[in-house]
This record gives sequence, C-alpha cells and structure tokens, in this order.
Amino acid sequence: MKKILIKNVKNYINKDVRLDGWVYNKRSSGKIGFLMLRDGTGILQGIFFKPEIGEKLFTEFKTLTQESSISVEGIITSNEKVDGGCEIQVKNLIIHNISKDYPITPKEHGTDFLMNNRHLWLRSKRQHSIMKIRHEIIKATRDFFDGNDFTLIDTPIFTPNACEGTTTLFATDYFGENAYLSQSGQLYNEANAMAFGRVYTFGPTFRAEKSKTRRHLTEFWMVEPELAYCDLNEDMQWGEKLLEFIVERVLSNRQLELKILGRDTSKLEKIKAPFPKISYSECVEMLNDGGFNFEWGGDFGSPEETFISEQYDKPVIVHRFPTQIKAFYMKRDPENEKVVLGMDFLAPEGYGEIIGGSERESDLEVLLERVKHEKLPRDEFEWYLDLRKYGSVQHAGFGMGIERVVAWICKLPHVRETIPYPRMLQRLRP
Ligand code: 4AD
Ligand code: MG
Repeated sequence: MKKILIKNVKNYINKDVRLDGWVYNKRSSGKIGFLMLRDGTGILQGIFFKPEIGEKLFTEFKTLTQESSISVEGIITSNEKVDGGCEIQVKNLIIHNISKDYPITPKEHGTDFLMNNRHLWLRSKRQHSIMKIRHEIIKATRDFFDGNDFTLIDTPIFTPNACEGTTTLFATDYFGENAYLSQSGQLYNEANAMAFGRVYTFGPTFRAEKSKTRRHLTEFWMVEPELAYCDLNEDMQWGEKLLEFIVERVLSNRQLELKILGRDTSKLEKIKAPFPKISYSECVEMLNDGGFNFEWGGDFGSPEETFISEQYDKPVIVHRFPTQIKAFYMKRDPENEKVVLGMDFLAPEGYGEIIGGSERESDLEVLLERVKHEKLPRDEFEWYLDLRKYGSVQHAGFGMGIERVVAWICKLPHVRETIPYPRMLQRLRP
C-alpha cells in the first residue's frame, strides 16, 4: 500500500493509502470512532466505523491514547465539514507504541512546565506552526542571498578573540588555551568578502547575556551578509530587500500556520521597501518630545526601541550612533567624527532591533587606533588588520537574528518559543 504524507492527501481521494503518525486526539460515539492523526506535515481525521472494521479493531481503537504511535490504512474521502476537506475511512490499524500518561494534555499548563517538556511541546499545533515559519524564514533568507550572487562561506565557532565586545564572551578551554564561542562571524566574513565580493554566513552565535529579557538568548542563529565595495546606504537597501522578501514568502507559503497563531496578517502586508530612515540624533529628539528624559550618547534600551518603532508600521532604520556605544570596527562618519556609520533595523509592533550592521573602518591607521583604544589584543587582530593592508576597500554588512525575526513575524511575546531548544540565563535543559 502506498505510504503518503498527510499534507498530500488531497491528491489521493478515493484511493487506498497508508499513513504513519501519532494520535493527536480521539473520541467515539456509539459505533463510530474519530481519531485525529498527526504526522508532522498535518493533521487528518480518521473514521473508525465498527460495522465496517469489526469488533477486534474497534476495541484496539479504544485502547489508543494521546501520542500513541500508529499506522492506519484506508481510503481517503472528501468531507467539506472537516479542516483540510479530507478524511480517511480506516480499514486497518497498526499500533507501534501505546503512550502512557503523556504529560501535556489539552488543559492549560504554565510556561515553565512546558519549557521543561520542550522535547514534547514541539508536537503541539502552536509550536509546530512556529517551527514551520522559522524554517520558511531561513529558507527565504538563503534563497534571497543565493539569488543575488552571494556565496555562503562558513565562519568558525571557536575563536581566539571578541567581535562584539568582551563582556558577553563564553570562554572554553581549547587544549590549554582560552577560546571563545563566536559572537558573530563578521570579522572572518570581512576576509571572505575580500575574496568573494558578496558573501554571507549563517550559523549559531553565542553571548553570555546575563539579563533576563524577552529578546535575549545566549545561543541564537544569525545570518550575516558582507559586501565589498558597499556603503551604508546600499547596506540599508540590502536589509530592506531581505526583510521584504522574507515577509512575502511567509505570507505566500505559511498562511495556515499564521492563522493557527492568530497573526494579523494585514500588519505584515505593509512590509514593503523602502523603510523609514532616521538618525540616532533625531531619535533622541523624538524620545524627549515623547516624554522620555534621554541624553545624547546613551544606548537605547527596550523602552526606547519600542517607543521609536511604534511610530511606524514598517521596520525603521536608525543610523549614525554615537561612536562610544558601538563596536570598534564601525567606520566613523567623515562628516561627524562623533558618530559611526552604523544602522539598526527596529521591527514594528514593539519588537525592537532585528538587524544590526554598519560600514566597516577600512583605514589601517584609524582601525589600529580603535583597537588600542578598546584595549583589544593586537596580536589576535593582525590577520584582520591585513585586510586593510592588501587591497582595502569600502565595505559593509549586517547581522540579522533569526529568532528576533521569527518572534516578530509570528507576533510572539518571547524569543524562547522561536528556537527548538532555547538557551537562556536560567535554561540549559532539555
Ligand atoms: O547588533 P549585533 O550585535 O551585530 C553584530 O553582531 C554584527 N557583528 C553583525 C554584522 O554586522 N555582521 O547583532 C545582530 C543581530 C541583532 O540585531 C539581533 O537581531 C540579534 O543579532 N541578536 C540577538 N538575538 C537573540 N539573542 C541575543 N542575545 C542577541 N544579540 C543579538
Ligand atoms: Mg546591535
């Protein structure tokens, strides 16, 4: 018998098929049993009609519990009254394992309980939808760069130096010397850009974030494009085009999942480039006009980012931040030494920063002075400085945190649900 996936049942109406999966839900009324079968690609109703299947099979149906693993064989029929428009009239049932006391029941559970059972929670409709959308966002991201002449070049995870400052480094023993888990692939990516022109890297990054917030993980996935011969304006345009592309893909391919999450898609339909652009200094004015007491030179926290992004219904690009709050590699604005040519994309609906990037300092002397000023170990940066000696060019790039984008597109209250196994200050398990 042909084994098929639930997502494809529509193509098998009036055909005999086999489905492998797990019991999502079950009820019976008299001679009829109704079973919701899930297989990871969808959920389908199975009908067990006692006069048709006989006493023995019907008794076996009755022993089934939530999350028991089974295969069913039968004929697919259409039924406009059920989700998906199809069901299976079961003729045979094969039981692989009867699940006992599955801990996640249809009743309400607390978040901590669900997080402790994350390995099982992923089977629920809502978590399943989030992971499907995460997958779509990653696929769209890769298609976007692959389709625009970028080459994927991987960067290492064990590194001897910091990219985004020393306060959030995870140290590990590397055969007797200290290595750090990568905070960003950017520095290596700059070398890659000088070899390939347009590159991107996509991998896990690590930050010892000691704060408990809705936006911070200690392990998160970042996609980082880097382009030779690129200035800040072009860098902004790549970010705009990328986000527009991702949202469009999710809207075309993941309507069902967005619906399960109750997402208001009209908000996503507005995400079309160009996005509003506003300098840090203008933001400071906006904040103070809005009742904040914010001094020029400080870093925006969540309340500030939320306030700024709430003024727009598209992501807003904030640029030209004070030099003192940004990383050593950012190029200073030739028109104003106090600010750097950096940019942050703040997502609408209060989601805050989803992309951070900049034009990079390409002058050897200025960069050396910045390395010294930040008290970074020059030895470890020699190879990076080489890039400014051998054919240095204007270049730029950015990093987009996948989990922040998933949180925004799915409209989730916390990033912990955006990644299969979140790592946070107080969570290393499961
Ligand atoms: O702004 P960040 O720190 O920029 C960089 O790491 C640059 N080196 C990237 C580059 O230019 N190649 O981080 C980039 C993005 C943020 O905008 C955010 O989306 C995400 O990474 N991010 C986090 N996501 C989850 N948890 C955390 N702790 C995050 N820290 C940053
Ligand atoms: Mg940032």
